[in-house]
Amino acid sequence: MDTNVQKRRENKKSLRVKVISLGNAEVGKSCIIKRYCEKRFVPKYLATIGIDYGVTKVQVRDREIKVNIFDMAGHPFFYEVRNEFYKDSQGVILVYDVGLRESFDALDSWLTEMKQEMGSQANMESIIFVVCANKVDLTKRRVVDESEGRLWAESRGFHYFETSAQSGEGISEMFQAFFSSITDMCENGGKKPAPEVSIGFTKEQADTIRRIRNSKDSWDMLGVKPGATREEVNKAYRKLAVLLHPDKCVAPGSEDAFKAVVNARTSLLKNIK
Ligand code: GTP
Ligand code: MG
Repeated sequence: MDTNVQKRRENKKSLRVKVISLGNAEVGKSCIIKRYCEKRFVPKYLATIGIDYGVTKVQVRDREIKVNIFDMAGHPFFYEVRNEFYKDSQGVILVYDVGLRESFDALDSWLTEMKQEMGSQANMESIIFVVCANKVDLTKRRVVDESEGRLWAESRGFHYFETSAQSGEGISEMFQAFFSSITDMCENGGKKPAPEVSIGFTKEQADTIRRIRNSKDSWDMLGVKPGATREEVNKAYRKLAVLLHPDKCVAPGSEDAFKAVVNARTSLLKNIK
């Protein structure tokens, strides 16, 4: 075959992509990447200084993908170094430590930093996000459960994986899904294709589950004022039950939220004449 034709064919099949890792310091970003690229785990903490850069080649279907990985430092001290590297990313690995709630709560501020730094370039429709709930091997210290993490991720259209850089759990599955979605997006002209399966729950359902999780007492959970009447409690209960009934709602955590609402109603009605 004409070598130029062959070269053109090969070029068509190869892709270059840029991905970045984000999340608080010490959540395990570098270890996740090391586990995937080098198949090993380093227990000693070696903070990333500014940025670590690496290249890896992966095969997705008939394409060879050259992945440029920019592993960011999570420490606020390195903000000035980090902020240069957000632009032109096609994929973002967002990591938190399931044993540290503040690292989960910080995910929103990582997205904010990213949007700010990308400025007018910030087109979230052209970026694949994957959320890693990391260090799941440390089960005893876990404080953020799967449904809470999954709800945060899936309600934004992000992938969600439970991972352990230490044991390797979830790591290759996560990268496979991540690279495959990035390839789909590139083949779709840089736009995320419509998801094969819709997320299956509404923003109202997701927000309600979050509100129920964070409520301070049964009144707050049902969204009524302390001292509300039986009718008011029952009305609020019915509205929530319709929204969250396990037959109707598939959002992560809906079953627990529904049970909590049933219990809140029962305990309030016991004390209202
Ligand atoms: P910065 O570079 O400072 O932003 O931190 P990082 O997010 O890259 O964290 P790093 O990968 O360096 O890991 C931090 C510490 O957590 C290290 O001591 C790792 O050995 C440990 N660690 C990372 N992942 C896991 C995991 O899945 N399980 C356990 N048990 N420890 C982990
Ligand atoms: Mg690091």
